[in-house]
Amino acid sequence: MAKITAPSVRARKVRDGADPLVMVTAYDAPGARIASEGGADIILVGDSLAMVVLGYDDTLQVTVDDMAHHVAAVARARPDSLIVGDMPWMSFHVSPEDTVRNAATLVRAGAQAVKLEGGRKRLPMIERIVDAEIPVMGHIGLTPQSVHAMGGFKVQGRRADAARKLVQAAKALEHAGCFAIVLEGVPVRVAALVTEAVGVPTIGIGAGPHCDGQVLVYHDLLGIEDRFVPKFVRRYADVKAVSVEAVAAYAADVRAGRFPSDEESYHLSDEQAAALGLYGSPGA
Ligand code: KIV
Repeated sequence: MAKITAPSVRARKVRDGADPLVMVTAYDAPGARIASEGGADIILVGDSLAMVVLGYDDTLQVTVDDMAHHVAAVARARPDSLIVGDMPWMSFHVSPEDTVRNAATLVRAGAQAVKLEGGRKRLPMIERIVDAEIPVMGHIGLTPQSVHAMGGFKVQGRRADAARKLVQAAKALEHAGCFAIVLEGVPVRVAALVTEAVGVPTIGIGAGPHCDGQVLVYHDLLGIEDRFVPKFVRRYADVKAVSVEAVAAYAADVRAGRFPSDEESYHLSDEQAAALGLYGSPGA
C-alpha cells in the first residue's frame, strides 16, 4: 500500500466515486503494525488513550506529553496509514501560540496531521495550525472532551436546530482548512446532511452508514475492552477472551510444572557442567 497523505484523504469523497475511508485508533507500535497491515487508511492516536489504555473514566486526563509519547510509539512502526495525533483537552484552548506549539509537539513526535474537537469556537485555533502547515482533522457532534458541558456522553443533533448548527459547523471547519471531519454520535440522517453539505470527507463513529468513512477504537473493534460496549461498536474479534484463556493455560502449566519444558530451556555443555561438578542431572 502506498503511504497515505492528508491531501489524498481530502480527496476521498464517496459521492465522487471514492472508496470509504477506514480509520482505526492505535496507541503503540504493535497496534500500528496491525492497523497498517489490516489496511487502515488512517491511524488515529486518539485521546481515547486515557480510557482504553490508561484506565481513566474520561479523556480529560491526558496531556500533550502523554499523546506525544504514544504518537512516537505508533510512528516507530512506520505504518503506511496516515498518522493523526489527537490534541488533548486544554492543548488548544488557551492561546493560538500554545495551540501551534502543542500541534508541533505531536508532529515532531511523528504525527502527519492533528485532530481537534469542537465547532465554530475552535476556528481561530484551527486556522493557526493550518497556517503552520499542519493538516487538521475536525471533530464535531458528540465531543468527549465536552463530557461535563454536555452532561454526559450524549448523542448530539437530535433536534432540527442542533442539526442545522452541526451542518454550519462542518461548513465552517471545511472553510477553515480541515482536510476531513469526524462526526461522532449523531443521528444517521444528520450525518448524511453534514456529509452532503461539505466537500471534505466525513468519518463517522456512531453516525451511521452515510459518512465518507468510519472509525472505531482499536480495543472495541478487537474486543480487548469488554466492560461496556456502545451500540455503534461492531466487534471483529474477542481478543480479551482469547487472552484470558491463554494466561489461564500458562498459569496452569506453571503450577503443574509443565512450563518450561526441556526444549524451552538453555543448557550447559557436558564439559562446562563437569567443570562445575554437575554430573548427569536430567535437564541440567
Ligand atoms: O480519541 C478517539 O479515539 C477519538 C475517536 C473516537 C474519533 O476521538
